[in-house]
Amino acid sequence: MDTFNQMVVEMIGKETQQERLAGNRNDEPKAARPRTPASAPVPDQGSTMTAIVQERYGAPERVLKLEEIDRPAAGDDNVLVRMRATSVNTPDWITVAGVPYVTRLAFGPFKPSTPVRGTDVAGVVEAVGPNVTDLQPGDEVFGSSWDHDLPKRSGAFAEFAVVPASQLIKKPANLTFEDAAASVMSGLTALIAMRDVGGVGPGTRVLINGASGGVGTLAVQIAKTLGAEVTGVCSTRNLELVRSLGADHVIDYTKEDFTRGDQRYDLILDNVMNHPSCATAQVLTPHGMLIPNSIGNTGGFFAGLPRMARAALMGRGSTDVQFVTCVVNRENLDALATLLESGVAKVVIDKVYPLSEAANAVAHMLGHHAIGKVVITV
Ligand SMILES: NC(=O)c1ccc[n+]([C@@H]2O[C@H](COP(=O)([O-])OP(=O)(O)OC[C@H]3O[C@@H](n4cnc5c(N)ncnc54)[C@H](OP(=O)(O)O)[C@@H]3O)[C@@H](O)[C@H]2O)c1
Repeated sequence: MDTFNQMVVEMIGKETQQERLAGNRNDEPKAARPRTPASAPVPDQGSTMTAIVQERYGAPERVLKLEEIDRPAAGDDNVLVRMRATSVNTPDWITVAGVPYVTRLAFGPFKPSTPVRGTDVAGVVEAVGPNVTDLQPGDEVFGSSWDHDLPKRSGAFAEFAVVPASQLIKKPANLTFEDAAASVMSGLTALIAMRDVGGVGPGTRVLINGASGGVGTLAVQIAKTLGAEVTGVCSTRNLELVRSLGADHVIDYTKEDFTRGDQRYDLILDNVMNHPSCATAQVLTPHGMLIPNSIGNTGGFFAGLPRMARAALMGRGSTDVQFVTCVVNRENLDALATLLESGVAKVVIDKVYPLSEAANAVAHMLGHHAIGKVVITV
């Protein structure tokens, strides 16, 4: 690693495998926030906004409609963001399609319990809740509303979105709103997979299946920054891209099955799960780790969930199987911002759609061959 990369590694707070075993930093409780000064701006609760609304499951073009709805209020600990860009992630297309069907048990049996999709956020602070003291109207911010209870009609596919202040930071000036929005869920998942779960360090041999997707393109770059020897698996048309992101080796899955190769890997991040986990585990080193990270692209009642469940079962035996969870907090967002601001990692964007064409953006992701990220601008 050169000195600059070493500096970035220190700034993104890399944990070694040993440190990881001593405790995952993402389990740490979030810092308490100070109470509000009486003069804090109050959220505007009166107006309406344009949003993409979903009232049933189905094909994006049939179920996603551009409508005028009430603008949500920020709430005590939240920020109302005037949206500039968002991006499409797996939870969005799953909730639009309602497939795999079993996910409807969680999202709502007949229609999703919340009508506005989208969690990645980049925009300008419009108003802050009374408990938010370190952000103010006019600040350019990025973050995510992922995994948080928020007003029912709030989501990022809209003119305004409510985001917990604890999941929002100021956007680096040299980062566009599109890049910032596109980086959040994919980048945090890649960062946590490589840095925290995988404990990647100098010389770790990492294979990333699905190296040309949103998570994969960032995981390749983050693993390289941490000093790994990286192999990326993608199709012929994406070989050059994955190489250009820093992969030391590329495998064209249309010509070669990596699970049958002679190479062995300390860590495999499987973003596709197109092979049974027992086959993938065959190319791990004796103490190697498998991170299964896809519910699959097959649709149906369960899609790839049985394959994920079998991987979890395999982890009860001699194979080290760990899962990655996207944890959005300021510490992780700062680490991601450092990577992007320094230019050590860049966001690959396949296509940008205006909000009115959000259905096409979701359909693009449902094709499962996006190169990097699909972005929606507002
Ligand atoms: N754990 C979490 O919290 C979390 C968060 C976000 C996402 N995820 C998971 O991470 C996975 C990746 O997400 P993503 O947004 O990166 O997905 P994505 O962007 O939809 O991935 C698309 C990429 O997959 C590649 N691909 C398709 N079939 C392939 C194959 N057989 N072998 C290798 N590559 C193949 C495509 O490349 P080609 O066009 O070259 O085929 C395309 O570049 C998803 O399954 C998602 O569920 C997990």
